[in-house]
Amino acid sequence: MAMEANYSLFSPFFFITLFLGFFITILIMRSRSRVHKQRAQVLLAPLPPGPPRLPLIGNIHQFVGGYPHRILLQLARTHGPLICLRLGQVYQVVASSVEAVEEIIKRHDLKFADRPRDLTFTKILLYDSDGVGFVPYGGIWKQRRKIYAMEMLNSRRVKSYAAVRVDAVRKLTAEIARKAFAQTPVLNLSQMVMSTINAIVSRVAFGDKCKQQAEFLDLVQEAMSYLSNFSVADMYPSLKFLDTLTGLKSKLEGVHGKLDKVFDEIIAQRQVALAAEAACQAAEEDLIIDVLLKLKDEENREFPITSNCVKAFIMEIFLGGTETSSTVIEWAMSELIKNPKAMEKVQKEMREAMQGKTKLEESDIPKFRYLNLVIKETLRLHPPAPLLAPRVCLETCEVMGYRVPAGARVLINAFALGRDEQYWGSDAESFKPERFEGSSMDFKGFNFEFIPFGTGRRICPGMTFGLTSAEVALAHLLFHFDWKLPQSMKIEDLDMMENSGLAAPRRSPLLVLAKPIIPLTE
Ligand code: HEM
Ligand SMILES: *[C@@H]1O[C@H](CO)[C@@H](O)[C@H](O)[C@H]1NC(C)=O
Ligand SMILES: *[C@@H]1O[C@H](CO)[C@@H](O)[C@H](O)[C@H]1NC(C)=O
Repeated sequence: MAMEANYSLFSPFFFITLFLGFFITILIMRSRSRVHKQRAQVLLAPLPPGPPRLPLIGNIHQFVGGYPHRILLQLARTHGPLICLRLGQVYQVVASSVEAVEEIIKRHDLKFADRPRDLTFTKILLYDSDGVGFVPYGGIWKQRRKIYAMEMLNSRRVKSYAAVRVDAVRKLTAEIARKAFAQTPVLNLSQMVMSTINAIVSRVAFGDKCKQQAEFLDLVQEAMSYLSNFSVADMYPSLKFLDTLTGLKSKLEGVHGKLDKVFDEIIAQRQVALAAEAACQAAEEDLIIDVLLKLKDEENREFPITSNCVKAFIMEIFLGGTETSSTVIEWAMSELIKNPKAMEKVQKEMREAMQGKTKLEESDIPKFRYLNLVIKETLRLHPPAPLLAPRVCLETCEVMGYRVPAGARVLINAFALGRDEQYWGSDAESFKPERFEGSSMDFKGFNFEFIPFGTGRRICPGMTFGLTSAEVALAHLLFHFDWKLPQSMKIEDLDMMENSGLAAPRRSPLLVLAKPIIPLTE
């Protein structure tokens, strides 16, 4: 009874509890009210501006028949450096200025370090996004980036692939020299360069004894051709069946099924080869697939590497690393052919620096200073992935005074940044490698106006590997041959538009004539 009395309305205990409770509540409210005020302000801030929307489809119609990076560049010029579109059910925010990128990559980096998780392509082709590029930000992603940096593409290993690169590029050179004297000397350089890069990547991934290489590459090509298709379901996440209706899903699943079977065969072969090598303790060299298979067998990893993960890694290397690298070569050649002065300068420098030597090695490349500027200028005007890779906003936040809602997809328009007169002057659209002369401006992710490999935590982990292949190929093409367009074509007629899918290669293939100048020697 005495206990009950303590809880009666008039007991001193009750008043003390009430007072303390009140006091503590006030304290908590005061300390949180500042945070709340900020959050309330964020929630009240308007969405970034953008063009008017239609019911149901939002802004989808604006992309019909055009190239997304060019359309978004125009929209940024009209509506500002941070715009918001509505594509079906999703918000699509696009950043096109240094300030906007700074806010996303520096100020709010963790809130934008994630990728959309439910894209049809990555779900199907990348084993439910089980590689690196579309893994949610966090422990698993960190471990996999470490595999890239420490095991797969560390600088020692990238160097160790030099022999593979030079071998493939010499084959290309020999083929061009042979065709130069053929009846139909016009070269489809885009195609030749692409197959050279494919040869390099598949050689370091699978080795040169891989029987399935041709089949695998054909399937990758097919998969990539679907990537330029517009996935309707990606814009209506609650209506996933849409991709089934359009037939995209079944096409992707078809090619994925075939790829998966080829993967299984390749893996089985490598496992036999690895066991044999282990028995005689004579590892040939480190193929990327071997590196991954060894990690797969490792026990007590915090996040185990499964076979699907190995396959997704390899898929990403092909999807993210082949077309991007060959694009750099074809655009550099296109720009040089269009700009004969720069062509003459780069060839003269290289041929002089070689001092009569006729066999080019990777170690010669650092001597070619102007070539380096040519590559930078090419990456500025023709970033192979013009919109980088999509990110997603994890938590509603304020960017440049606007509200970016949680769940919005975010693109950074590297193409627009590279052509903005604000940063590059009134000749931003012209090809002038000299603009990088004596400048510290680089593409490693610190100068936001120049980010062909992206920036921040999600920056491309294959930068050195991709770039080295492009450099070696370009150096050989320029050193050994002089180039011109087929007779009937004038420089002004050369189409300089890009296509857009996963990468932005030339819209029409680069067709050229090569004149052998320095013979290829053994
Ligand atoms: C010239 C060649 C290449 C270019 C221009 C390029 C460009 C890019 C870009 C723009 C991104 C997105 C970065 C961001 O979101 O900020 C990216 C990501 C990525 N790239 Fe590359 N790339 C190239 C070569 C390669 C190669 C050769 C590989 C593999 C061997 C590769 C693997 C990846 C992966 C795995 C990611 C995702 C990283 C992540 O989300 O954590 N790339 N690349
Ligand atoms: C050049 O090669 C591409 C494939 O890379 C092909 O689609 C195109 O038809 C070829 N063009 C000519 C004129 O040979
Ligand atoms: C993908 O796009 C190509 C050309 O734009 C078209 O021919 C093809 O039918 C499309 N495929 C699907 C599955 O939508």
